[in-house]
Amino acid sequence: MAERIVAYGKMNDVKKNRFKWILSGVSLAGGAVTAGLPFRTDLTEYTLEDDRIQDDLTIVILSDFHNDYNEKGIQRLGTMVRSLNPDLILMPGDMAEEHHHQERTFEFLEQLKGIPMYYSTGNHEEYRWDLTELKDRFRAYGVVVLDEKKELVQIKRTTLEIAGISCRLNMSSFMPAAVNELFDSDHYRILLSHKPNWIELYKQIHCDLVVCGHAHGGQWHIPFVDIPVAAPSQGIFPKYTDGIHDLNGVKMLISRGLTRHYHGIPRLYNNPEIVFLKLRSKAK
Ligand SMILES: [Fe+2]
Repeated sequence: MAERIVAYGKMNDVKKNRFKWILSGVSLAGGAVTAGLPFRTDLTEYTLEDDRIQDDLTIVILSDFHNDYNEKGIQRLGTMVRSLNPDLILMPGDMAEEHHHQERTFEFLEQLKGIPMYYSTGNHEEYRWDLTELKDRFRAYGVVVLDEKKELVQIKRTTLEIAGISCRLNMSSFMPAAVNELFDSDHYRILLSHKPNWIELYKQIHCDLVVCGHAHGGQWHIPFVDIPVAAPSQGIFPKYTDGIHDLNGVKMLISRGLTRHYHGIPRLYNNPEIVFLKLRSKAK
């Protein structure tokens, strides 16, 4: 009888230790996930130089908003953008979602009203919206919609030629010649285009800078080594998720975007991002 009691006691100790280890593991995993959640928005600054830039210009790039902020969050983002005192804002797509909280996009645009804004649509707008209605609503906030269009933009003594292409057709439908026809000046040329994976197209475009979003920074990053895990249109371990890339002389700038979730799955170790681009004269 006494031996049986001892045997039960040993079994309980083993179970207790196992439970402690499991609890510790779960706590560690929970802590690691919590530490990586997107609690803040990064402000990432880049500088590019060019002879055609006469005065320093400040450009804010906002992408992939996906209606993912409440009123307080939208005000915080608006304050962040306004504090940068940008000359203009570029928005390369996925600023709107049709299926939830549609008004948040326009509450955000209200915060930015008065700053020149240039926009091309992303895949989420293309697939899910009545685009005529959507673009009219953007225009009501002063946004210039640039799907398959261009605009000459004068800021101080510098003229920028800004064009945009939509996601409506696949990459092969946008023959490089057709995109190149959008540009017809010698000014600094910027192309808004949502998808960074269209690099074979961008390599053939006679522009200086392509501004993209779409990749959401790679959704999850592996801590310590900072490797992005997955991105739409690029799959596992994507190459083009943020930063500036050189494509045969054409610079491609990718915004990690603003949304904190993708289909309800949170980002990890990959904060949302507002990009702050300084264009400077090379002569300085
Ligand atoms: Fe997106």
